[in-house]
Amino acid sequence: MVKPWCIISRNNKKKALTILVASILCAGIPITASASHPSITPQTIHSLTVLSDSEKIRIGDRIANVEDEINRLLPLLTLAEKVSLIHAAGKFHIPAIERLGIHEMWMSDGPHGVRYEIDRNSWAPAGWTNDYSTYLPPLTAVAASWDENMASLHGNVLGAEARHRNKDLILGPGVNLARLPLYGRNFEYMGEDPFLAARLVVPAVKAIQANDVGATVKHFALNTQELNRTGVNANPDERTLREVYLPAFEAAVKQANVHAIMGAYNEFRGTNANQSKHLVKTILKGEWGYQGVLLTDWNVDINTYDAAMNGLDIEMGTDVASFDEYFMAKPLLAMINDGKIPVSVLDDKVARILRVQLSIGMMDKQRLSGERNTDSHRQDARTIATNGVVLLKNDNQILPLQASKVHNLLVLGPNADKRHGFGGGSSEVKALYEMTPLDGLKAKLGDKVNITLMRPAGSQFMPIPNDYLTTRHWTGTPSWQINYYQDAAMSQLASESWIADPQFDAKGQNQSVEIKANIKPMATGNHSFNIKADGQVALFINDKPLITPSKAQSNKIMSTSMSLVAGENYAVSLRYYGDKQATLGWETPNSLYNSESEYLAAAKKADAVIYFGGLSHADDRESIDRPNMVLPGQQDEVISKLLSANPNTIVMMIGGSAVEMPWANKAKALLWGWYGGMEAGNAYADILFGDANPSGKMPITLPKKLTDTAPIALNDYNAETSLYSEGVFIGYRWFEQQHIAPEFPFGHGLSYSQFNYADMRISSASMSGDTPLTVSVNITNTSHVDGAEVVQLYLRDVDSSVPRPIKELKGFNKVWLKAGETQTAQFILTQRDLSFWDVKSNNWLAESGEFEIMLGASVADIKLSTKFNYLTSSRNPD
Ligand code: BGC
Repeated sequence: MVKPWCIISRNNKKKALTILVASILCAGIPITASASHPSITPQTIHSLTVLSDSEKIRIGDRIANVEDEINRLLPLLTLAEKVSLIHAAGKFHIPAIERLGIHEMWMSDGPHGVRYEIDRNSWAPAGWTNDYSTYLPPLTAVAASWDENMASLHGNVLGAEARHRNKDLILGPGVNLARLPLYGRNFEYMGEDPFLAARLVVPAVKAIQANDVGATVKHFALNTQELNRTGVNANPDERTLREVYLPAFEAAVKQANVHAIMGAYNEFRGTNANQSKHLVKTILKGEWGYQGVLLTDWNVDINTYDAAMNGLDIEMGTDVASFDEYFMAKPLLAMINDGKIPVSVLDDKVARILRVQLSIGMMDKQRLSGERNTDSHRQDARTIATNGVVLLKNDNQILPLQASKVHNLLVLGPNADKRHGFGGGSSEVKALYEMTPLDGLKAKLGDKVNITLMRPAGSQFMPIPNDYLTTRHWTGTPSWQINYYQDAAMSQLASESWIADPQFDAKGQNQSVEIKANIKPMATGNHSFNIKADGQVALFINDKPLITPSKAQSNKIMSTSMSLVAGENYAVSLRYYGDKQATLGWETPNSLYNSESEYLAAAKKADAVIYFGGLSHADDRESIDRPNMVLPGQQDEVISKLLSANPNTIVMMIGGSAVEMPWANKAKALLWGWYGGMEAGNAYADILFGDANPSGKMPITLPKKLTDTAPIALNDYNAETSLYSEGVFIGYRWFEQQHIAPEFPFGHGLSYSQFNYADMRISSASMSGDTPLTVSVNITNTSHVDGAEVVQLYLRDVDSSVPRPIKELKGFNKVWLKAGETQTAQFILTQRDLSFWDVKSNNWLAESGEFEIMLGASVADIKLSTKFNYLTSSRNPD
């Protein structure tokens, strides 16, 4: 309770107590931030005001003028309190200044569901039992919907659930672009195109923030690989930066008024992105006029002076013993006291923090309280998942399946019954439930259909599947630990890491490694451990040698067996010394896998066969890039054999990044499902059985092979520097420029309906200055099924003075049409849409001359086009 003598009116400053008097008289009332920062002492403030509850509430009656409140609160804060606010006071929060009614500001991952509660001061789970959240489809699925309404639904669920969990900032959405298919975090983002991501981030942010929660758009900027993510130096040219990698951030700032932006781990032109003068001071806070906060990604090495002076506002997650040791704590205070950093720089950061807090109602008793795990949120998750499914092929109209004609359904593949929510890294979600594809089919078909699940075994030697692992990488993924030693005797550890499978390739160099994990058998009985290796191997189970160091040859399999008990944990350790490969496999009493003859015979007999393959968060996740674009687990072989045995096999890929699909021309029905969130299975079943009509379009190009992609073709993917050598030719722009045919182009996606494009019109034969041009086209659903078409507008600058892409996406419009219905799709082209970043004038430039507008169903399927003239060459700052 506030003691009466501590209630000091802000209007009566003369009576304000000195800090000393206040701290004696008001014992128990937290008047400084030094409780959590004991060594930071106020040095410049001589009196401290303690606001009464009624005054705090007065502050909180939904602030009409945020700026006035900031100006009133700022002088009341001590220097130490201000410093305390600009860095973490726990894993996911900054501190409170209770005497002024400033509360702790809490943040939470992540981009597709509020993450489970993490301990206040460590990465350990807090152990809550009430921290389940709706697991939404990741943002790649939103991007695949090409629908701003889906982005809004997504943002609204995220915002409402974050609020319900008492969070102030949600750490998403992520808008880095999918430049490289191998990048482990592509699934968290919105595809490869700057225009698509910029259009979708706006409704997503607005919807989050409508719930009195701040969105945090991340990672600013150029976080496009996980390989050496904290060290790689991103060094694109200025035009590429402006035209490709910044527009989504720019849109979030200018059009959605986003409250927070998170910096990136990587360097930008030789300095950490969080403290880059060019990115932060010049562009974000200068040119764009950003008024919110910039916070670091968790645990980056910043330099106090540069970070402070160049505009970083909050430091989070630094890996030091005490919060006082953060770069923006004691070192910053010292620089202020030494006069190296002006107090005004600190004041600006605090003002921004207060601005966010006031804007999201943190000092407001009327703040929205949110809601979580509601039926409507689950329904929204299902709607988004359904809208994100892309139908890549449907020869002979195999799909949709008719439930009445399917009596025996064979379901196969590694993703048929896999759950993905609790994986992927910081975006993991603890969902109340997750409907797998198999669950969805069972729920839809009930007892009427006989559903058989099979896990086809590949013909190659198989590593122990990670379904049996209890060892988890920090991203939640079942993984094997790998220790690299300096010596063959394994006495001197060199480094430690994680791998998905007990499989090692020394790539011709003598290496000494231990691969270990805990495994839990599913059946009791004799298990035979098989090692296929070339070199020196040993095997230990629970520290007992089963195979003592022996010489192995790759053409011979070494086997040993042991009786194991179902449900018990066994520590397995494979040790290898050599310059070739080693794989640890096993045979269990009840194999999880079906032999080739078994699954092919079943595929021939079944009325319908659906294979759910693709990636999982074992290989598609934060902290790693995939080593190649090949489907893991011998899937290519299995799919090819299935397609030969039963050509009507339906293949559905689940994953956040492109994979090579060498069998694609053989498949008649092929779909892409992303990680569909907790309702994935229901959404997929709706599409497969025609209760929903697919309407998604690829937000990424699906290349035929990895070497076709720009970063690999240009040898611009490594741990040191990324030059973004392809420039503005990211994704489909590269494929078009190089005349490389992808497996499936950007923007591609079929429907159970057919659409006709007719009567393209433009509002004027020419455009000038900043007067927009309207483009219209009539779209007719010529089929008997209601459906939606995403009409895409691509632009070509015919007379450009600089190299420009053959096509640049500059508009899209998802049109829902009843069978037989016609509607007009409209697009507005602005001067900015015509512009490129002119490095000479450091500004956007729309050059006069001819432009071509192309309307189509994908970048490679242009239906109609026309040309117009832009008359005035003109620069525009927006
Ligand atoms: C990730 C961020 C995430 C943060 C907090 C980092 O490793 O890059 O995206 O928000 O951790 O968990």
